[in-house]
Amino acid sequence: MTITQLQALERRYAMPTYARAAVEFVRGEGARIWDSDGREYLDFFAGLSVHNAGHCHPAIVAAIREQVGRLAGSSNLYYSEPALRLCERLAESSLGGKVFLANTGTEANECAIKLVRKHAHSRGISEPEIVVLDHAFHGRTLGSLAATPRLAREDLFGPLPGGFVAVPRDDPAALREAVGERTAAVMLEPIQGEAGVFPISDEMIAAAREACDATGAVLVFDEIQTGMGRTGSLWAYERLGMGPDVLTAAKALGGGLPVGAVLTTPELGDVLTVGDHGSTFAGGPVAAAAALAALDVIADDGLLARVRDLGERFRAGLSGLDGVAEVRGRGLMVGVTLVDGLDARAVASRALEAGLVLNVPGDGMLRFLPPLVIGEHEVDEALALLEDALG
Ligand SMILES: Cc1ncc(COP(=O)(O)O)c(C=O)c1O
Repeated sequence: MTITQLQALERRYAMPTYARAAVEFVRGEGARIWDSDGREYLDFFAGLSVHNAGHCHPAIVAAIREQVGRLAGSSNLYYSEPALRLCERLAESSLGGKVFLANTGTEANECAIKLVRKHAHSRGISEPEIVVLDHAFHGRTLGSLAATPRLAREDLFGPLPGGFVAVPRDDPAALREAVGERTAAVMLEPIQGEAGVFPISDEMIAAAREACDATGAVLVFDEIQTGMGRTGSLWAYERLGMGPDVLTAAKALGGGLPVGAVLTTPELGDVLTVGDHGSTFAGGPVAAAAALAALDVIADDGLLARVRDLGERFRAGLSGLDGVAEVRGRGLMVGVTLVDGLDARAVASRALEAGLVLNVPGDGMLRFLPPLVIGEHEVDEALALLEDALG
């Protein structure tokens, strides 16, 4: 089908919730994707930080093929080795407690919200509050949406669940002030991705940890975008010298298939018990096999060191480009703000035309989330294509 035909189908049959670029990608390999006319692109978006292991990684494809040809699922009412091995792998790679498998990021966050609320009730808090940061993004289902101040439009989607309090993302004093005896949790992304790649300062994160420790509240890190090697360690919190009590993961976790997860410390592993939570598809063996294969690729010290080096090379290159006012990020999670007067959407569409896929998270900003398997050559190629698109 041509793009014009696809657009006609979209207009007639698809709810108009997405603004799409006029291109259909039909094939991928590593950091390259090809459109329906056979044109090749360098993919610095990776399906929104999903294909961290690169498109169609042979080990992930083989794991999916093998499992789907044997058994695609039997429900969570029976045992399944891939799911339980994935729980083990995730717990041992992070907080050492227990894991709930979900299908998506927003579902992982919904589970975390239920967990911290139940934990608060067990501490005698009848109306628990969750403190979140301005500009956060935690997902689109109602609980996660209520935790996402800039999209939680009461006038459009209300009544939204209550019990969420937002503080500025760069004000440790305001955060300390907001955490009190009703606080169930503080929930934050170590680097705000959808907002345009804004790292949360170490002072802010330390304030959150201290306030939670002082009050008994739970610290939740949403690592749905920052996790799975994106920032140069398997989880972004690893560089902080301290960790959260609950971590949510998704996106690249499934190696391209939808997988989410909630990871806890040992103390919080048994807060949710039989009947408290569940999902038909969650932890299905095909998705779990894909996630195990994706972890094999990503949890590799050599690859993670390269992510840090390539991230530095890329950010240094970006800083030298005309039109770039600010460069932010860590590892291969990179955002820039353009100089006043440059239209980010026009830059992105010129880049796409030249064969570079990138993202515009907001006015005047670009975001880059390449597969983590790129090399120096691809970084330099992206910089050259971007220089042209900026010019
Ligand atoms: C930090 C963060 N949390 C949650 C989500 C929601 O994930 P999903 O789209 O899989 O529901 C996203 C998606 O962009 C995200 O970046």
